[in-house]
Amino acid sequence: MFNVAVVGIGWWGKTIVPLLKQSKKIRVDKVVEVNAAGIADFARQHSVEIVPEFSAVLNDPKIQGVVLCTPHTQHTDQIVAAANAGKHVFCEKPLSMTRADVLRAIKAINDNKVVLAVGHEKRFEPPVLEAMALVKSGKLGTPLQIEANFSQDKFLTLAADNWRLSGKEAPAGPMTATGIHLLDLSVGVFGEADRVFASVKQLGSQLVNGDTLAILVSFKNGGHALLSAMLATPFEGRFAVYCTKGWVEVRDKTHPEAPEGWVLTTAFQGGKREVKEFAPAPNVLANLEAFADAAEGRAPYPVPQSQMIANISALEAIFKSAATRSIVQVES
Ligand SMILES: NC(=O)c1ccc[n+]([C@@H]2O[C@H](COP(=O)([O-])OP(=O)(O)OC[C@H]3O[C@@H](n4cnc5c(N)ncnc54)[C@H](O)[C@@H]3O)[C@@H](O)[C@H]2O)c1
Repeated sequence: MFNVAVVGIGWWGKTIVPLLKQSKKIRVDKVVEVNAAGIADFARQHSVEIVPEFSAVLNDPKIQGVVLCTPHTQHTDQIVAAANAGKHVFCEKPLSMTRADVLRAIKAINDNKVVLAVGHEKRFEPPVLEAMALVKSGKLGTPLQIEANFSQDKFLTLAADNWRLSGKEAPAGPMTATGIHLLDLSVGVFGEADRVFASVKQLGSQLVNGDTLAILVSFKNGGHALLSAMLATPFEGRFAVYCTKGWVEVRDKTHPEAPEGWVLTTAFQGGKREVKEFAPAPNVLANLEAFADAAEGRAPYPVPQSQMIANISALEAIFKSAATRSIVQVES
């Protein structure tokens, strides 16, 4: 078993710890939480030891890897510290807030010969795997354009001072919560972005950081992505790739928190639309187990570092574009 410490036991840490109980590959040895008293009941219920200090698990020889579920601006420094302590790292999204920081994180990972994995579990959804394989196979022809949407109204009940609603931790409104998953999938299809234009507005809620985000990404190797993320409308999850010989769309039936599966639709030139239903599948766990497989040398982690860098480079440009209301060139 691959022994990890889960760091940050809030919404997502509390989702991941019980999931890992089901795994035959990866085991939670400790949890790290600054508000240790606040998770005492949770730790008892799941029989895990709480340590309040991140440095304690970095110095613990039993811990082979860390799973970071902390606020966004802490990620880069925590990745670097963990890598320098020889620990493999699974980090929740976004890996970093700037290109310079993701390069710093990946340098520390590679200098210390450890593995980096990222919480983009949409890549592990069975219909997304099928859609991506179809696009890569060439059967749909040349990819032209992506249309994708990840919207929800979960944040409407958050306290106004929650870190997730701050301009520092979450620039461009919904971008770091949901838009980043769509950007990651788009980079998976088209590679490095060239230019972006992002517009964020506060149209339907009290969320002063913005609740309605529209993005146009233009990619170096051709193709666009039209990404939509809202925080003031009920859940929607959709990812579609339009190509010269056909198109493919994955639509979530429900919010991933209470999954009911997906619908995959394909259409080929001259043919009829085909619709395929997918039952719910444990994609968050699949991602974490892919991390364990990579750390223990069984298989490479499926998201290449070049795509991690391309995603954060485009993310930084989106932040700048939303702030300046202008088209921004993506650094490379
Ligand atoms: N992949 C997904 O679909 C998904 C879903 C939800 C959240 N997330 C990501 O998970 C991360 C956490 O989000 P959340 O919604 O769980 O936030 P949260 O505020 O609910 O939880 C964060 C927790 O981290 C703790 N914390 C803060 N600094 C710490 C530190 N230095 N050491 C230890 N604990 C610390 C806080 O006390 C809090 O309990 C974010 O990166 C977020 O984007 C990913």
